[in-house]
Amino acid sequence: MNILDILDKKEKREKLTKEELKFVIDGFLNGTIKDYQMSAFLTEIDLLGLSEEETIDLTDIMLHSGETIDLQIDGIVDKHSTGGVGDKTTIVLAPLVASLGVKVAKMSGRGLGHTGGTIDKLESIEGFHTEMTLEEFKNQVEEIGVALVGQMNNLVPADKKIYALRDVTGTVDSIPLIASSIMSKKLASGASKIVLDLKVGCGALIDNLKEAKQLGSLMVKIGNMSGKETVCVLTNMDEPLGFAIGNSLEVLESIQTLQGKGPKDLTQLVTKLGAIMVSLNSKISIEDASKKIQENLNNGKAYEKFLTWVKAQGGNIEKIQTSKHKEEIKSKEDGYISHINALELGKLARKIGAGRLTKEDVINPKVGFVLNKKVGDKVSKGQTLITMHYDDLKVEEKEILDCFKISKTKVKENKLILDIIK
Ligand code: URA
Repeated sequence: MNILDILDKKEKREKLTKEELKFVIDGFLNGTIKDYQMSAFLTEIDLLGLSEEETIDLTDIMLHSGETIDLQIDGIVDKHSTGGVGDKTTIVLAPLVASLGVKVAKMSGRGLGHTGGTIDKLESIEGFHTEMTLEEFKNQVEEIGVALVGQMNNLVPADKKIYALRDVTGTVDSIPLIASSIMSKKLASGASKIVLDLKVGCGALIDNLKEAKQLGSLMVKIGNMSGKETVCVLTNMDEPLGFAIGNSLEVLESIQTLQGKGPKDLTQLVTKLGAIMVSLNSKISIEDASKKIQENLNNGKAYEKFLTWVKAQGGNIEKIQTSKHKEEIKSKEDGYISHINALELGKLARKIGAGRLTKEDVINPKVGFVLNKKVGDKVSKGQTLITMHYDDLKVEEKEILDCFKISKTKVKENKLILDIIK
């Protein structure tokens, strides 16, 4: 077997065997297959796709490229989001479902590009740390029902190396590559059930419903075939989620949501995802689980669990950092908000320091944006559309205004939950 024959076979659209796929992944990991050869392979997959069987094989090979975790705790339900702008779902959802008996043992990442990462967001709480040993992680899940750590290095090393190359070869948006990347990590991390939040829209990896359905169905199939009940919820990411974009601002909005005072879309999303997680765990109906979720958002129990969690990971909730300056950006016209470009706003947030372009960049946890209007809202000339929270870096008013489209006629609010695949 050699890489040139495999590249040739793929180019002729012939199906690759599991042995051939393993040869490529192992070879790339041990350095016998070079970056430029792997780039060619990834590009072929991006252009020509992989069959369902090949994708399932690839996931299995990646899953076994490193260690897998078995926490030996029953009832762990994992939730994974494909990432979007203002996506603080995990920060709300983890303590919320933990307050209803679901065990959350979450591995999260840092932000790269226009989307933020949960770890960066939580680290804007002074003292909050995400480094723990496996033993400490397990103990915390057992004791308080929720723990969050950074990606463990020994888990799915193939994904780490391949993802770095995908990032610089324009192959990030390939459906089989996304499915195998996400599912290999989910299957390696020891949850017994998996809920996927697949974002669809201009601020997400996938911008159309057709491809999202394809990806969602594929991931659900891979999860179920591996004996882990998997549900995928397709959710809108055309406009940012909630009002806040930026690390500490998103934590503050998460706290409001955990106190029952959050934005409508974020509250709706955590209620839906949470109800699915609770129902998978306890076999009660989604409707009954939704009622329990709403109760715990309003009776203080979800927030109480959040406080316990933050304390357990060293955080001081009294000390959430905020920026020095604020600037309100006002509408130049009357009308209805018809679009808020999540992708561009995410990029502007990064420009003022809220995100990073390379892994080495240092983020400023205090800065970002807070929307004052969402799609469908009426706006008058002179009313605030959004507030920029900044320290030493700013962007021009025009760049921010360009993210908004205003229509003279009434506009419906965006539908948040687009589909559920089981
Ligand atoms: N998230 C992942 O972990 N992998 C992808 O390929 C895309 C999103």
